[in-house]
Parts: sequence; C-alpha cells; structure tokens
Amino acid sequence: MEIIIAKNYDEMSKISAGIIACEIRKRHDLVLGLATGDTPIGTYNALVDMHKKDGLDFSKVKSFNLDEYIGLAPLHPNSYNFFMRENLFKHININSENVYVPQGNTDDPEEFCLWYEEQIRKAGGIDLQVLGIGSDGHIAFNEPGSSLASRTRVKALLKQTIEDNSRFFDKIDAVPRFAITMGVGTILEAKKLLLIASGKKKADVVAEFIEGPVTSQITATALQLHSYATVVLDLDAASKLKRTEYYNWVRDNKQLVQKKVGR
Ligand code: F6R
Repeated sequence: MEIIIAKNYDEMSKISAGIIACEIRKRHDLVLGLATGDTPIGTYNALVDMHKKDGLDFSKVKSFNLDEYIGLAPLHPNSYNFFMRENLFKHININSENVYVPQGNTDDPEEFCLWYEEQIRKAGGIDLQVLGIGSDGHIAFNEPGSSLASRTRVKALLKQTIEDNSRFFDKIDAVPRFAITMGVGTILEAKKLLLIASGKKKADVVAEFIEGPVTSQITATALQLHSYATVVLDLDAASKLKRTEYYNWVRDNKQLVQKKVGR
C-alpha cells in the first residue's frame, strides 16, 4: 500500500483527482469505480475543473458506483444516483450509457446484483476503484463481518452507519436499513484501488486498517491483500498512524523508490 499524507482536505482532493486523471489520460476508455459520501466531493470538484480547464475527456470512460440504498429511486435526492449526477456526471462529458449505479428501487435486488457483476465483467473489470472508509471501517457498504470474498449483494447497515449517514436525511428513521453494495471480493478484483479519507473522526479506523491485522471486522483491511492500493489522507485522518515518517520518506523519494521497486 502506498500511503500519501496531504496537508489538508484540499490537497488530498487534488492529489486523488490527479491520480484518477492520470489513469484516464493513459487509457481513454478507463473503467472507473466510484464512491459517494462527503470525502470524494473535493476530488470530483477537482476532476470537473480539469475537464473544464484542461479538457480532461470522459467521453469513453465507463463508471460503476459502489453502492446504493435499497428503496430509493434514482431521482430521490438522497439516492447515490442523484449524488453522482449532482457532484460529477452533469458537469463532465461522460456518456450516460456508460454510467452504472446500482438501482435502489429494483423489484428484484438479488437478480440485479448478478446483473451488475455481469456488467462489470463484460466491461473487462474495473481499472481503478475509488473508495472512502466508514467510521466502522467499511468499504462500500461492507459492514463489519462481511466476507472478504463477498460479491455484489444486499447488505443490512450497521447502526453506526445509519447514524453517520443520518446527516443527509430529515430524520434518522428515513435512513434506509439496507443497501446494494459491491462485495469486498468484487472490489479486490479492480486492477488499482484508491482510498481517500479525511478528518479526525476517521483517524482511529485509518490507523487500524493500514497498520492493524487483516480482519472482516474492518473490511478496509482487505486493501492489504491487494497488489496496487494507494491511500490518500489528510493530516487529521493520518494523525494516529505510527509509521508516518516512513510513508513520508517513500513519498519524498518517489523517483528512487520507483527505480528500485518499479511502481
Ligand atoms: C459510499 C461508500 C461508503 C463511504 C463511507 C465514507 O459510496 O462506499 O463506504 O465511502 O461511508 O463516507 P463519507 O465520505 O461520507 O465519510
């Protein structure tokens, strides 16, 4: 895992947008996995800026979102579908036919999950998957105890996640109890992973997932099993890490490291 510690949220967002843009420039028909939540908003804003100012081209990019609340229609203002349109898709030149977000109001979630996996497979797999981390250590909605081999499926949300996400809803009872989510196994099949985290409230779980043992109780620890994972943090989210000096040395000596380890 490559750990990049940025000064603040703004720098974290610019670095992660730069990593995504670099992959799109290398491969115009990149298959990009996307996340929602507060954390990636700055990254998406920076990508929109690159599209508007530098012509970053999304016309051939295909995207797959990680998750969606069960019961919310794509136009519901609290749906992740709506979030993606407002924060990214409507500001860039992505082709709507290339955009995949799980359908929260599907009649048959189980069938939908199989179909979603099939679409990812038909696209040739995800090249770069963007991830956030929940305060309970989840990636996508893979709550504690999720199998590290899990595939796209319906998952019941933990009370802590419902409480965390209630900030977007009028009242806590309005937060859906279930979601469709890519599984940890699905995520681990992406060729590259990029996890971003910001703020003091993520500091404990960030230290646990980077420097603690792999466990299904903190599904983000599965990144330790991936051969190409990058984590971009702001100083607050990185504040409980023990090996900061080492991560910073690797970052500051990137050219030398690349020459020796080829990455
Ligand atoms: C959302 C998702 C979740 C969030 C996580 C952090 O698509 O996959 O795992 O990344 O809950 O959310 P924020 O960024 O709001 O703290």
